Amino acid sequence: MPTRSSLWQVDPMRMRKVKWAVEYLPQSKVLVADPAENKGKWKELLQTDTLHVELGCGKGKYSLDMAAMNEQDGFVAVEKNESAAGIAARKMDEDGRDKKLRLIMGDADRIGEWFAPGEVDVIHLNFSDPWPKKRYAKRRLSAPSFLEQYKTVLSSQGKIIMKTDNAPLFEFSVPQFLSHGFSLEEMSVDFRREEHPEDAITEYEEKFIEQGKPIYRAVFAKEKA
Ligand SMILES: C[S@@+](CC[C@H](N)C(=O)[O-])C[C@H]1O[C@@H](n2cnc3c(N)ncnc32)[C@H](O)[C@@H]1O
Repeated sequence: MPTRSSLWQVDPMRMRKVKWAVEYLPQSKVLVADPAENKGKWKELLQTDTLHVELGCGKGKYSLDMAAMNEQDGFVAVEKNESAAGIAARKMDEDGRDKKLRLIMGDADRIGEWFAPGEVDVIHLNFSDPWPKKRYAKRRLSAPSFLEQYKTVLSSQGKIIMKTDNAPLFEFSVPQFLSHGFSLEEMSVDFRREEHPEDAITEYEEKFIEQGKPIYRAVFAKEKA
């Protein structure tokens, strides 16, 4: 029987520096060097009515596949690790499918500097780092300081979709959302038990599915002010 603290232990994304990826970034076509310049203009830039933002995109598979599957929707993927962002950038640049997609290399805690109030329709949190130690709880992407910013940048119909393999992170996050102005619209504790062709599988998710781990998923809606 795993202990409560061992349940928090996951394979954290401790990537070593990938030199080619870091060097690739400046020439990337999808990378937005100064995201704040597009504040309030992302929909115009991407020619879309629906703007999705994925925070902590890793090597970018989810946003890339979702943008290709939903050609009318715009996607902005955010990643703070330079090497992961460089790998994502190259994959996105080299992918031949039609898509409305950009990449920001930066910390999600700056989301309010990059997007105007009400500009974002959907925020995706996929397999976010769990930061199991209490002293780092503020770094969880479902911590209150992030939720306050999400509430601001989301449109009135805005949603947050969270997927994780990590039960303690899920148990921490659900009440956080509910006490910070979000309502629960959907919840599953074994999302991949059924086929969901409408939802792309992330890199981390692929590994967890292979290991037979259940995927937790919840959709939160912004409550009317
Ligand atoms: C466990 S990985 C998951 C990657 C991907 N979402 C997936 O499901 O395959 C978490 C990723 O989030 C990134 N990350 C963590 N905190 C972040 C933050 N505050 N801002 C941007 N990216 C962050 C990490 O660098 C890492 O690449």
